[in-house]
Amino acid sequence: MAKRIGILTGGGDCPGLNPAIRGCVYAAGKLGYECVGILDGWKGLIEGMITALDREITEYFVMKGGTHLGTSRTNPYKKEENVKKCLDNFKKFELYALVTMGGEDTLGVAARFHKEHNLPVVGVPKTMDNDLSATDYTFGFDTSVTVAVDAAERLIDTGRSHHRVMVLEVMGRHAGWVALFTALASGADYVCIPEKKISPAEMIDKIKKVYERKKFALVVASESAGLHPEHEEEFGKEMDQFGHVILKERGIGEKLAGFIEKETGIETRAAVIGHIQRGGEPTLFDRILSTRVGVKAAELVHEGKFGMMAALIGNEIKGVPLDKAAGELKTVSKEWFDLMEIFFSSGGITMPQ
Ligand code: F6P
Repeated sequence: MAKRIGILTGGGDCPGLNPAIRGCVYAAGKLGYECVGILDGWKGLIEGMITALDREITEYFVMKGGTHLGTSRTNPYKKEENVKKCLDNFKKFELYALVTMGGEDTLGVAARFHKEHNLPVVGVPKTMDNDLSATDYTFGFDTSVTVAVDAAERLIDTGRSHHRVMVLEVMGRHAGWVALFTALASGADYVCIPEKKISPAEMIDKIKKVYERKKFALVVASESAGLHPEHEEEFGKEMDQFGHVILKERGIGEKLAGFIEKETGIETRAAVIGHIQRGGEPTLFDRILSTRVGVKAAELVHEGKFGMMAALIGNEIKGVPLDKAAGELKTVSKEWFDLMEIFFSSGGITMPQ
């Protein structure tokens, strides 16, 4: 009987998960393994929910958004009994190895299972936030930014027509990558990211200057950008099972729009694209990256390299220790601040006479 690999997808879904599942299933098959899917992330391993996976089932997954396996933000380490249930079900389903596809939370649990229980796990990094340390890019990011850029371009059309300031709020959790790349790629006038506290005076100065010239301005804001520290208390404090504040109640886009309108006297509107960024078919980049890391996961299993994760380093897919990915978050680094200065600061812009 062929050795069996279980595959699960955990945390927020993102485009590329289905191609990664397909990559793993195809490569595992070639290496003589069979695969089964575990439904709804770690919840499925706790509750013992599995589904069949083979070449036929996954054949057209390469262009499909979401995750065929379902997902959840369940953390088995919240209850000791759930850790035991995961270990029992791993045995019950006669698994040889577990491929976990997720972000820092899902991979953090995988790393712990490997360290504390010697569970043969391998990781596949995914997240639209692009905030995992051990890999250059995560799949999901390119598609999400592509969707956000499309939204920004639409806001430019309507904003220009009405001579308004438009604020686009994007996701990205505690990293500003989605906002920064969206702003750079859509020719936005200002960007707000959590890594760089907004200077209200500088932002207003920039908006006034560009508005004076073109009667329009576009601001892109990350959902966790900080404007008024004194308003932090008003922001939602509801936590998920991994201890992250759920950011959806925060409404930075609306708050920023209100602030800009008050300070400039210019009519301002905010748009929040939220989960629209996570749906739809993966871009070419995400299809290829996810396929490659999915394939690598099967290879890592075959080589017995457990506790490792498939990572993109340069243009190569390599195995790196899972702990590295589940450790510190990769946020927007200082080098990017220089680029921000060129495109988004008000320095160098002169007001028309
Ligand atoms: O981590 C991915 C992400 O989309 C973040 O950008 C966002 O803050 C969060 O998930 C939203 O989570 P949920 O889908 O649980 O509302």
